[in-house]
Order: sequence, then structure tokens, then C-alpha cells
Amino acid sequence: MSGVVSALGLAEDDVRGVLEAASAAPSIHNSQPWRFVLHPDRIELRFDPDKQLRATDPDARELRLSCGAALLNARLALQGLGLRPLVTLLPGRAAQGTLAVIRRGGWFTPTEETRELLRAITARRTNRHPFTDAEVPVGHRQRMVRAAELERSWLHVVDDPAEQVRLRELIQRAHKQQLVDPDVQAELTGSTGDRADPGHGVPKSSAGFTPAPQDEWAFRDFSPGSPSARPSGKDYEPNPFVVVLCSFYDGPLGELQAGQALQRVLLSATALGLSASFMSQAIEVGKVREELRRALGGSLFPQTVLRLGFGSPVPRTPRLPVDDLVVPPFSVIPGS
Ligand SMILES: Cc1cc2nc3c(=O)[nH]c(=O)nc-3n(C[C@H](O)[C@H](O)[C@H](O)COP(=O)(O)O)c2cc1C
Repeated sequence: MSGVVSALGLAEDDVRGVLEAASAAPSIHNSQPWRFVLHPDRIELRFDPDKQLRATDPDARELRLSCGAALLNARLALQGLGLRPLVTLLPGRAAQGTLAVIRRGGWFTPTEETRELLRAITARRTNRHPFTDAEVPVGHRQRMVRAAELERSWLHVVDDPAEQVRLRELIQRAHKQQLVDPDVQAELTGSTGDRADPGHGVPKSSAGFTPAPQDEWAFRDFSPGSPSARPSGKDYEPNPFVVVLCSFYDGPLGELQAGQALQRVLLSATALGLSASFMSQAIEVGKVREELRRALGGSLFPQTVLRLGFGSPVPRTPRLPVDDLVVPPFSVIPGS
């Protein structure tokens, strides 16, 4: 690791700000797989293969979604500095293991929406607690659907009751399969509380309540072995506002687009005062994902499932120091 230096014609402090924004993104199990190579004329986004959760995420799909989310934050941070980022996704053989390259594309005047999304970067959290029963207003829904479209992805709103029941069943089925898979469980436990590597993982304070028999939706339990008691009357909303974020392509390009869309949706939601949590199980179990894909009409590729609503504030999760995210130019990250 080489630490933050100036890049893209920006002073070191500005580069540091861009990387801090990028690393505030959500990532699967808070694994923070993103790495950066800083050049005078460009920033390369890479991934650390050691951060892949090989049982939960065997194809590194969620690793790339996470990196896509970090990329969107970096783009917004550069726009906030008055610079138009030019992004090449998957630049190819010349830069193996590189997910994206960012170059300068002239000046940019930040819009009010850019400023709003920028403020949301540090305010956003995954909120695993119950939300209120207040409905998500139609205007809010439309803004989130548009956010996904802007990033060349599709946000499918699951508001048909029969479709909700079907999705709930698929998530339950995938969740049960994961519960009996020792490797998936080991990755979950290893990312939880004190067992996570320093700067990584989901602390108990962010874990949400321990699942209870009356829960209709299956949430991942980030406090296995140390149950967090649920105050009475604090059940999960029975009919949450649920969306499936989809890409138009299968594979790394669609995943990087969907990761950016995921983050634009989450930041828009945060700016609107909404909270969000994930239910990725149905997408992590291959056969169940295929069933979900067919249930959605067969032409889209489901990438993640989100529950959105009005919640109470929750604490932030840890992050690695940004100096640790910078890798030297021309280095090859093993396995990437
Ligand atoms: C692709 C992806 C999938 C995720 N899936 C789940 C999930 O199934 N359940 C869950 O509770 N959190 C899930 N998360 C949320 C992460 O655990 C969370 O982003 C991470 O712990 C960092 O916390 P923060 O979002 O509050 O910054 C997912 C995040 C990403 C990017």
C-alpha cells in the first residue's frame, strides 16, 4: 500500500476526499473490496480478490456491485470539486484487474441534485431495524426509479401483493439454504461484531434485531450467538416497500452499472429521508435467482433486493483508513 498522493491534477487533500467518499459506499458484509491506483492523469478502480466472500458470492458479483457503488460516490465527489469525471468501465487487457478508469472531462457546475446526493454519502446507512407503517409516497418511488434509469439499470417495484408473497417465499427458501451451508455461515460470523477484521464487518450496534418466528421476511442475522432482544411492539412492517434492482446485462458490465444504480437509489432515498436495508439471499443462491429472474419476465438480471421505508437513525459501520486503499501504480493485485 502506498498512501494517498495527488492524482488527476488534484491536490492530495482533494484526492483523499474523493477516496473517503468512495469508501463510504455499502459493500457486502462491509468487506470494502475497492482499491485505487493513483496516476497523475487518472484514477483506477480495482478490487482486492482477498475480500471476495467465496461461499456467499462465488462469482464476485456482489464484490463488483460494491465497487460500482464506490465508483458512483467517487464520481459525485469529483463533480462536487467542479470536475466532470469521464469513466471507462472494464478498460480491458491493457489494465487487467481494473474495473474502471476515471479521467478528467472538463469542468462541471454541481447541480442542486449533485449537492443533495453528496450530502447523503455520509448520512446513508443500512438500517436493519423495523420501519414505520407510513407509505413511501409515489413521488419518492418515481425518484428512485429514475435514479436507477440514470445509471442504465432498472428498479422493479414489487407492489403487486401476489408478487410480494412470491418474492418473500424465494427469499425464505434461499435464506434456509444459506443457514445450513457452513461456509456461508462462517463468512457471516467472521464478518460480525468482534470477529470481523479491524475496520471491516457489521458491529452488533448495526445488526438489527435477532429474527423472530413472527417475521414474514427473512433478514440476515448479523448477531448470531448473541441475540439482541426486540422491545415488544417493535415488529417489522408486514408489507414493506420492496424493490428488486436489475441490470440489463448479465456479467461484470451489468454489475458495475447496477452497483452505481444501487448507490444512486440509496443516496436518493437518503436525501428523501428514507432508510433502506438489503435482502440479497434470493440473488446469492443461483437456482433461486434464476426463478426470480423468470418471475420478473426473463429479460432482466436481478442484482439485489431492497426494503425501503421511514426508520430511526442507526450508527455508522467502520471503514478502513483510505491510505490502506491505495495500491502502487503498475502493481498487480494477486488473483485479480
Ligand atoms: C451488494 C450488497 C449486498 C448486501 N446484502 C445484504 C444483505 O443481504 N443483508 C444485509 O443485512 N445487508 C446487506 N448489505 C449491506 C452491507 O452489509 C452494508 O452495506 C455494510 O455492512 C456497510 O454498512 P453501511 O451500509 O451501513 O455503510 C449488502 C450490501 C451490498 C453492497
